Amino acid sequence: FAQSKPVSVADLEKIALDKLPKSVRAYYEGGAEDEITLRENISSLQRYRVVPRYLVDVGSDKLDVRSRPIWGKRQNFPFAVGPSAFHRLAGYDGELDVARAAAKRGISMGLSSSSTSNLEDVIEAGQVARSQIDVETQKYNKVYDLVDSDWWQQLYVSNIRSDTEEFIHRSERAGYTALLITIDRPYLGRRHSYLREKFELPPHLRRASGDKMAQDPSMHWDELIPWLRSVTRMKILVKGVLHPEDAALAIKHGLDGIVVSNHGGRQLDAAPATIDALPCIADVIRGRIPIFFDGGVRKGIDVFRALALGADIVLLGRAVLWGLAAGGEEGVGLTLDIIAEEFRLVMALAGITDVTQIKRSTLALVNPYQVG
Ligand code: FNR
Repeated sequence: FAQSKPVSVADLEKIALDKLPKSVRAYYEGGAEDEITLRENISSLQRYRVVPRYLVDVGSDKLDVRSRPIWGKRQNFPFAVGPSAFHRLAGYDGELDVARAAAKRGISMGLSSSSTSNLEDVIEAGQVARSQIDVETQKYNKVYDLVDSDWWQQLYVSNIRSDTEEFIHRSERAGYTALLITIDRPYLGRRHSYLREKFELPPHLRRASGDKMAQDPSMHWDELIPWLRSVTRMKILVKGVLHPEDAALAIKHGLDGIVVSNHGGRQLDAAPATIDALPCIADVIRGRIPIFFDGGVRKGIDVFRALALGADIVLLGRAVLWGLAAGGEEGVGLTLDIIAEEFRLVMALAGITDVTQIKRSTLALVNPYQVG
């Protein structure tokens, strides 16, 4: 980024899209069918306004941007890297570069079971990077104060359960502490962009961790959750909750958390924007288990919006991919630093000193509707 340093994720996206081959661009960018949900994830976030309070002491030493406690631990930031497939399509060291950028900043990472790097190597790359933090990163992020990142494994449950079980055990041994079980992909959505481009993983890349994984479309609550509990002690979350009834079932089945997600608009087109689904779900969950959230988050203000409507932590999908494609580890670092910086500023400008004070009443929908 010698000439002009990107100042927003939108800048990184532009650089990334200019660099990527057409088929990869289609794969990363694309949503299902008419891409209504894909677009609405972003446009619905943008409808919410933050109503600021002033004459609050927002001196920089007063700002606490750590997440609300998630299983007893406040994460350094209320956002993390979400699981997305095939990072090596972006070039560089793929998932390893993402892990390095995240771990240096004490930002947690969800890894896709369709990663193009071994799941063991991802944690290792992160931990090595963390132990060799450069002075610049340290100064900028005051990294020495930060807690270490957590590592979460996303999973498509296969109809060959012994394969899935082996994969779960492998993830647990490697140091992953939670499983994000993706439930919104019993079948792959129809993504026109890459049906047209006939997207396929190029021969030099492979699904390093989960070659044999094909989602089992017949899995269901009563069978799946007890089975998962019987094979692992990891935290178990379901990823893809949009209906309040499913949130209630997550509680009923004793899950450790949920991820409110529509798979970045890549599965059911015309599924609700995640920010629109979130408040009703938060009303059901009532703080009993953590709510992860993703979909359309490109800015610090989006993180703030999601927290106000009930999320405990926000996952970044394409925002990380754009950083990676734009500039490898440095690019991902920029994505994370920009969102952190933007988030800090929104907090200060809204007159909020602690993430735990962000409330629904801090937001308003664009007139005439009122939230809160
Ligand atoms: C994804 N997503 C995803 N989810 C998952 O559970 N397993 C996966 O392997 C993938 N792979 C994947 C690839 C690509 C290219 C994208 C864009 C997304 C969905 C992802 O976890 C997340 O839900 C969305 O990306 C969130 O939306 P944004 O942030 O991309 O708008």
